Amino acid sequence: MRALTWHGKHDVRVDTVDDPEILNPRDAIIKITATAICGSDLHLYDGYIPTMKAGDVLGHEFMGEVVEVGSKSTLQRGQKVVVPFTIACGSCYHCGKHQYSACDNGNPADNQDIGRELYGQPMSGLFGYSHMTGGYAGGQAEYVRVPFSDIGPIVVPDDIPDEKVLFLSDILPTGWMAAENADIEPGDTVAVWGCGPVGLFAIQSAFLLGAKRVIAIDHFPHRLELAQKFGAEAINFEESKTYEALMDMTGGIGPDAVIDAVGLEAHGFFVDNIVDQLKASMFLGTDRTHSIRQAILACRKGGRVSMPAVYGGFVDKFPLGAFMEKGLTLKTGQTHVQHYMPALLNAIVEGKIDTTFLISHTLALEDAPKGYKMFHDNQNEVTKVVLKPDLGMAAAE
Ligand SMILES: NC(=O)c1ccc[n+]([C@@H]2O[C@H](COP(=O)([O-])OP(=O)(O)OC[C@H]3O[C@@H](n4cnc5c(N)ncnc54)[C@H](O)[C@@H]3O)[C@@H](O)[C@H]2O)c1
Ligand SMILES: [Zn+2]
Ligand SMILES: [Zn+2]
Repeated sequence: MRALTWHGKHDVRVDTVDDPEILNPRDAIIKITATAICGSDLHLYDGYIPTMKAGDVLGHEFMGEVVEVGSKSTLQRGQKVVVPFTIACGSCYHCGKHQYSACDNGNPADNQDIGRELYGQPMSGLFGYSHMTGGYAGGQAEYVRVPFSDIGPIVVPDDIPDEKVLFLSDILPTGWMAAENADIEPGDTVAVWGCGPVGLFAIQSAFLLGAKRVIAIDHFPHRLELAQKFGAEAINFEESKTYEALMDMTGGIGPDAVIDAVGLEAHGFFVDNIVDQLKASMFLGTDRTHSIRQAILACRKGGRVSMPAVYGGFVDKFPLGAFMEKGLTLKTGQTHVQHYMPALLNAIVEGKIDTTFLISHTLALEDAPKGYKMFHDNQNEVTKVVLKPDLGMAAAE
């Protein structure tokens, strides 16, 4: 089959690789009809995530048709499914608490050492996201093997377009969990750093959960415009100073809750960000944590910090004193996608949530390297790239 493979920093290629096979009774094989490139994939593309190997198949946002099932899968051939990016067994201690992204069984034992060393406990399994998270082949391919297919994939109506439900695989539940983790109370003011897909869905979700005002922060005018369409007020950090603007807008109090939807590749000409970049270039650090530092400083005393953004390593200049002295709380984590999918599917079917506005480009799978480059180089206009294996090369031109 054809699949998008990783070969190093800024080097992804569509290669012919072996077709996936059923390995365990709970597996299913899905024929991909639509898959998307995520902001998290850019961290792989930029070479920030360790334990990648040349030839790894990428992709953790995908959906398609069930074409083969193991003896213990509950799926049936021909069903249309969306697959969560987190691989969870459904029966361990953490799955029992609906904390699916903390599953103890999704990540094969021989890949667990690095997680245990870095994080104290091994990470759960994720599709197409390094050997530290299980080394699973991802879904930017014609076919994918889905383990624990009786727990993960959600069956969606045949007549619903892929574009309406594809983002149930990751960014819609991630934006929702980000807002839920902000413990929003009616009337709250919520500030969101980053107007990528996660930030934009967090903004929609924050309003649905009762926020009175949402303030969106980014530097890409088009992304800020999208945020404004959902009713957010905008701060362009290249035109005004974010902290000062937030204080002005909240009568000097600060937002009740802050959401960091930027992550380890923060942009901007700020002293701490420049130091982080220098450290990264000398292999003395990995994460550029400007946005979470700023979010903590801007948050009101007693406020809540939600951090859907991905960070990988150890950080310095973290305002731990401010965090303690202001009495903040922080919630974060890879999204427990399986937990949120059913309710969010209903919200889509009932027309309460729209996800299609986000798709700026639809390309053939064969053109995936072009899609990565576009998403990387032009984040202002390229808000989300969807890849379709059955589109010919010509359709993408
Ligand atoms: N927790 C999870 O399970 C989960 C799931 C999906 C994505 N993520 C993470 O969420 C983050 C966002 O994902 P995305 O797909 O929206 O990514 P994205 O790269 O499309 O968007 C990030 C946005 O942040 C903006 N930004 C950069 N520096 C900024 C700054 N200093 N202040 C304000 N805005 C700034 C960028 O301009 C960009 O618009 C990433 O770190 C991604 O890895 C987490
Ligand atoms: Zn993703
Ligand atoms: Zn589990």
